[in-house]
Amino acid sequence: MLFGFKKPAIPLAAGRIDSVGIIMDGNGRWAKRRGMPRLAGHAAGAARVEEVLTVLREMGIHHVTLYAFSTENWKRPKEEVDGIMDLVYKYLREVVREKIVSDGHFAVRFAGDTSVLPEKLREECREIEAMGENKEFICYVALNYGGRDEIVRSVKRALESGEEISEAAISRHLYTSPSPDPDLIIRTGGDMRISNFLLWQSAYSEFYFTKTLWPDFDRGEVIRAVESFLGRKRRFGGLNKEDK
Ligand code: FPP
Repeated sequence: MLFGFKKPAIPLAAGRIDSVGIIMDGNGRWAKRRGMPRLAGHAAGAARVEEVLTVLREMGIHHVTLYAFSTENWKRPKEEVDGIMDLVYKYLREVVREKIVSDGHFAVRFAGDTSVLPEKLREECREIEAMGENKEFICYVALNYGGRDEIVRSVKRALESGEEISEAAISRHLYTSPSPDPDLIIRTGGDMRISNFLLWQSAYSEFYFTKTLWPDFDRGEVIRAVESFLGRKRRFGGLNKEDK
């Protein structure tokens, strides 16, 4: 095409990336830069989720885990915590249920201790999980999630079911089981840390950090992250043929 705009071509990740984790950071700063309340940043962040899931699906990536609320996020002012809970509820009802699950593409599961969430949110989580059996794509929403907490819970569950503790047994009881460990973990917002996200699963993940704030993380940004991954060599602690 000589004239006009062309959508960036989608690199096919199928076979190279099957699972992606995303730390959606930078909503507060996005809002502050615009003189808006922090919650407006979270709303703008939620509005990005569908677009990002769609691009990942078009690329052939079947498993996505989104960090929506951590076990540490309760330390924020009550007004912000309540606002995020309302926003997540509204987003689950209006977008996740109506578009992301109902269009037949994604099953949605919740990773984290949802038992302490507001009752109407818990009920919505239960209903959404029940809608999405046997889908080709799966999205885990990490809500009241902590990686250390998840490992402790997995060990307890393995012991309760009489299993010998092994890597396989711990993996089997994670929230994200039986999905594969993330090939790629993306963190927006400029910080370069894991913040208690998928600690067990990220043992051999590749990391992609960007200064882009989550509400600005659009289709082109997803493509850049995936292209960065596709340019890397993974060795999983061993050697590749060409290194020998
Ligand atoms: C981190 O930005 C973002 C959060 C704690 C909330 C993220 C939640 C959403 C985007 C809603 C998504 C909903 C679903 C159901 C997937 P921050 O506040 O730490 O930003 P800052 O570092 O700029 O302060």
